[in-house]
Amino acid sequence: MAPFLELTRQYREMKEEIDNAIADTLNRGTFVLGEKVAEFEKAFARYCNARHCVAVGSGTEALHIALRAAGVKPRDEAIMPTHTFIATALAADYAGAKPVFADISEDSYCIDAEKIKEAITQKTKAIIPVHMYGQYSDMDAITEIAGKHNTAVVEDACQSHGAEYKSRKNVIGNAACYSFYPTKNLGCYGDGGAIVTNDAELAEKAMLLRNYGEKKKYEHIIKGFNSRLDELQAAILLAKLKHLDSWVEKRRKAAAEYNKALAEADVITPTEAGYGKHAYYLYVIRSRQRDRLQQHLKAKGTQTLIHYPIPVHKQKAFAEYNSQTFPVAEKIAKEILSLPMFPEITPEEISEVANAIKSFR
Ligand SMILES: Cc1ncc(COP(=O)(O)O)c(C=O)c1O
Repeated sequence: MAPFLELTRQYREMKEEIDNAIADTLNRGTFVLGEKVAEFEKAFARYCNARHCVAVGSGTEALHIALRAAGVKPRDEAIMPTHTFIATALAADYAGAKPVFADISEDSYCIDAEKIKEAITQKTKAIIPVHMYGQYSDMDAITEIAGKHNTAVVEDACQSHGAEYKSRKNVIGNAACYSFYPTKNLGCYGDGGAIVTNDAELAEKAMLLRNYGEKKKYEHIIKGFNSRLDELQAAILLAKLKHLDSWVEKRRKAAAEYNKALAEADVITPTEAGYGKHAYYLYVIRSRQRDRLQQHLKAKGTQTLIHYPIPVHKQKAFAEYNSQTFPVAEKIAKEILSLPMFPEITPEEISEVANAIKSFR
């Protein structure tokens, strides 16, 4: 039996650290935007080699708030890949902007920079590259386009904690947005998110927006939101952050084992772009017989998932885009399959999954 993900293994390994962090927070008696949140913001900014981190309620909220803080206004346009989790598009919608979709690269599964050029208009105010499955988008090409057209770049880094671009963890756009949903490379035990940036003004605006636009107690200078990280989640994230690099290394090792074991199998394994280090939030293979393969693996006791079966422009929620066509995204949505991947996965589980794939006819 190979589970897709088993979060309890990680908890068991660091039970004492987590239990202490929780008990310590309960004993302190502060629960929202307190010392632990401030400490985590400092630590996570440092981890990302950035100046500022603003913790918020979720990855979706990080994107929404970052877009507003970067100056995106109603009726502006935000370009993003159609192959992403729907939250990327919803966040633009919450900011009042129109999502404009672009196709992806068949190698990296991230937005195709050439397609961004075709989608740019006078109204484009932001580009949202999604670092899909844990791998940076082609940021040099994207920042060059953004520079030429004077648009903001808000990175959707919700899947890429611990990834590197040119040997460095880095915020390359105006801001990078993270999710701490429990399954993420760095996940808490509830919802959480963060905006990481080198822009002091953007950070200040984001801090106002996450907390009712409050400058001083009960003094509200803009209309903000309630989107805050709580102290319990911050304390848990602080404990976990110390392990993030080693977890990413374990994910990379598991990916290398899969690559080796699947070398002769009739599937396409993931490609690492030359510019960076993949953090393998997900290990995604491709098969022309995906649905049959998934059934076969299920029968053999292997859990798999599809990230994601419907590109955003084909979702009912975005019905006004349904007639658009993005051939690469539409093709790969029918072929992709995410295999079990988490730092604690064992070599035996990996060979069990690989053998099950190799026995597929
Ligand atoms: C690419 C991407 N964007 C945005 C989000 C939204 O994050 P959250 O679930 O924390 O709101 C997620 C995660 O679920 C994601 O994978």
